[in-house]
Amino acid sequence: MSANTIEHNRNRYNFSGVESIWLFGYGSLIYKVDFPFLEQRPASIRDWERRFWQGSHDHRGTPEAPGRVVTLVEKPGAVCKGMAFRVSPNVFEHLDVREKNGYLRFSTTLTFDDGRQAEGLVYIATEDNEAFLGHAPDADIARQIAMASGPSGPNAEYLLRLADSLRALGADCPHTFAIESHLHSTGENSRSGG
Ligand code: SIN
Repeated sequence: MSANTIEHNRNRYNFSGVESIWLFGYGSLIYKVDFPFLEQRPASIRDWERRFWQGSHDHRGTPEAPGRVVTLVEKPGAVCKGMAFRVSPNVFEHLDVREKNGYLRFSTTLTFDDGRQAEGLVYIATEDNEAFLGHAPDADIARQIAMASGPSGPNAEYLLRLADSLRALGADCPHTFAIESHLHSTGENSRSGG
């Protein structure tokens, strides 16, 4: 599938008659809220886990030196914590452009911290999109992130802001925190000439 998903997403979900819908954010949507929302609540979704497996050629990297950003991969029993936003359907006109580098909207069941549930949408970049990079050792991912920068800023900023936001949410994400820790040691090594 082409990396540009704008048209795919426009044809994907019929919003007619829908006044508001829940959107689940697990990556930059948690901390970069550049869209209007009616309500926000911490929430989680089941059977998916967060992974820095998606390439970013347009936001946090370039086609020559892509960065790495998060997507979700299926893992039975896993719980991914993030932030849910109740939004008007027209907000997706902006979000589909923002998430255009490989992300498709999927329906999912959100569980709020009080145990209540609602149906919503989540952007996922699946492995059949052109920008998908897949698994690499945590230290290699951290090195790639340390080197990458794009129109939205340094890739390291994406990682560090996400890690801080996850801590603020009380979310346990060993994958993100391990890469963050490698990033810090990469910086220390380069400062000490190592
Ligand atoms: C999300 O935040 O939910 C999608 C991935 C991203 O934009 O970082």
